[in-house]
Amino acid sequence: MKPRVLVTRLLPEPALARLSAECEVSVNPEDRPMTRQELLGRVRGAAALLCLLTDRVDGEIIDSAGNALKVIANYAVGYDNVDVPAATARRIPVTNTPDVLTESTADLAFALILDSARRVTEGDRVTRAGAFRGWAPLFMLGADVSGATLGLYGFGRIGRAVARRASGFSMRVIYCDEARAGEETERELKASFVTFEELLRESDILSIHCPLTPATRHRFTLKEFSAMKPSACIVNAARGGVIKEADLAEALRRGLVAGAGLDVYEDEPKVDPGLAALPGVVLAPHLGSATAATRTRMAMIAAENVLAALSSRRPPSCVNPEAFG
Ligand code: DGY
Repeated sequence: MKPRVLVTRLLPEPALARLSAECEVSVNPEDRPMTRQELLGRVRGAAALLCLLTDRVDGEIIDSAGNALKVIANYAVGYDNVDVPAATARRIPVTNTPDVLTESTADLAFALILDSARRVTEGDRVTRAGAFRGWAPLFMLGADVSGATLGLYGFGRIGRAVARRASGFSMRVIYCDEARAGEETERELKASFVTFEELLRESDILSIHCPLTPATRHRFTLKEFSAMKPSACIVNAARGGVIKEADLAEALRRGLVAGAGLDVYEDEPKVDPGLAALPGVVLAPHLGSATAATRTRMAMIAAENVLAALSSRRPPSCVNPEAFG
């Protein structure tokens, strides 16, 4: 009998075909996330769970799967939706989809940098509303991106890919991370390591690229926004929970910072109404990895992770190798 894989949302076809060759694939037929009750019920007896960042996978879900479960393959590079310690305690590997979405996500972050600084989306709304009355010296002035200081909070794969793009705009790049990058990386990317306080104080544009962990949750609150330049823009294409959304809305209203470009939200798909009411904020619907090619590559990696675990091999992108003892 083929092992059963529960796939919680329709994925690009090549990955489903790859899985179907070796497994019985059970895909959520609805164009919406599975409810908790559906997930609890349908995971029962599954050998693999291929889930999304919209699924909360905790000990209860894992236990509901029963002893057959061999792997939790998350269709994302971030895996804050999965209770990894609970999986490790049950010796179940958890996998993610690193690398293949780095460039697409960095592209999107850079789009938000340009958009929030140069007010493109806001200008689009103004134009469509018939409020463009012709070129005027003081109309819709934004901030220069070229030559500005770009602060990166998180200097992993995606942060570095954003730094690479910044060099084409002659930006000064500073970064803050738990650990300092090697000298060669800093030299290649012309990036300088700074303290968190310096990052806040010196960034013209501050772009967030860290994972969501207990240490980074609400790392940016009113206190941090108060320490930034009033002309600064903040960009987030990582995880919404890194910013306290209501505080960002308050900071923008008070003029503590000038603009924001967001792709992610604390409680997706909800957006703080205070933020949505502000014209100078660009709100994208979590598009970081949303290109056809990238989503297909992510699905193939998730499928390979599943197939490896089901054939007792170590999955290529396992985030909790300690699950193997
Ligand atoms: C990820 O992979 O974590 C992204 O947020 C998906 O777009």
